[in-house]
Amino acid sequence: MSKRRVIGAETVAEARKRQRNIIEVLPGDIVTSEARDQADRLGIALVAGPLEKPLVVRTDGNTAARRALWRRSPKWVAPSNRISHRPRRFRKIAFIGAGGVGANAAHLCANADMAEELTLIDISPGVAEATALDLNHASGVTRSRARANGGTSLSLVEGADVVLVTAGRPRQPGMTRADLIDVNRRVIHAAGAAIAAHATNAIVIVVTNPLDEMTFEMLRATGFPRNQVLGMAGTLDSSRFRNALAMAAGVTTADVEAVTLGSHGEEMAPIVSASRIKGRPLDVFLSEEKIAACVKDAITGGGQVVALKKTGSAVIAPAHSSVEVMDHIRGARAGTVPVSVMLEGEYGIDGVVLGVPCHLGQSGLVSVDEMKLLPDELAALKAAAEAIRNRLAE
Ligand code: 2OP
Repeated sequence: MSKRRVIGAETVAEARKRQRNIIEVLPGDIVTSEARDQADRLGIALVAGPLEKPLVVRTDGNTAARRALWRRSPKWVAPSNRISHRPRRFRKIAFIGAGGVGANAAHLCANADMAEELTLIDISPGVAEATALDLNHASGVTRSRARANGGTSLSLVEGADVVLVTAGRPRQPGMTRADLIDVNRRVIHAAGAAIAAHATNAIVIVVTNPLDEMTFEMLRATGFPRNQVLGMAGTLDSSRFRNALAMAAGVTTADVEAVTLGSHGEEMAPIVSASRIKGRPLDVFLSEEKIAACVKDAITGGGQVVALKKTGSAVIAPAHSSVEVMDHIRGARAGTVPVSVMLEGEYGIDGVVLGVPCHLGQSGLVSVDEMKLLPDELAALKAAAEAIRNRLAE
């Protein structure tokens, strides 16, 4: 039997110090009258025990770390898009286009074991097959369970949960993305027809340029509802903007939250008012000129790579950004993500595909998040919508 305790005024004082509102009194414990008076006065209940112990709250390491950081500094703002608990594993991801972006994205998907089957499709015989074989060879090291296969036929999209479309001509130095509209429209219509015939439930992620226009064409080619057709650009442009801000402020990109909306082109709209460095507005760290230079760097980022490469465009950042969209679809990331979608009145814009913050889920677009924008940011979004509308009308 446990030792009898004397519960005195000091026990009550200690309970108060620890902000407890009950004191457990076990059989045989002696409670002094001072303790009863003091407990009464302080509103602390003396409860006959033994009390049932509350269950230990189980949490994952990620949440525990965020809580600890919050306690250490209330100014620290936890990034909103951390990994959630049970991401879905796709049955099949198809990649139409096994060039730089498609192959890198497939590689990332294999490493993250995101699907049972990864199917690469490319018009050049042997390219998709070779990459698939290469990925399978790597699985002996990575131990990924994903099985890759490849071919030239678009019908290989059969039964895919997600189709990443990167096929089409890339920019050459001196070209704008809009210069590709005619040549890539044909590619998108061929891909869209195959997806509509063989993968009716797929979520289609378009990467082919000009991004917003090609996402619009994919909607037309598949006849799918807007939730199933997404354009990947905002994740890429936001990543470039975060990189530029981090470099300018001398911090790491983990300290930067920033979002870019609008078109994936000249009318890109990095949203300065919603961007933060270490949880604080940009002007705490950077002058107006430096912020403007970062905005410009984000807008011209893709062109800078094209100019250096001379024979094509960026592949690594677009691949990561495509996988970020897939992660939102499968529930591996929470919060909103900038994606190009057909707008139906959101932000006062209708009938145009444009980059806006979205909630994504298993069925693709769940909802468009109408974030608060400054008047000039909203005007930039509307100007982007008009420019895209005009290009499509031409
Ligand atoms: C880019 O911005 C390819 O459009 C893509 O790099």
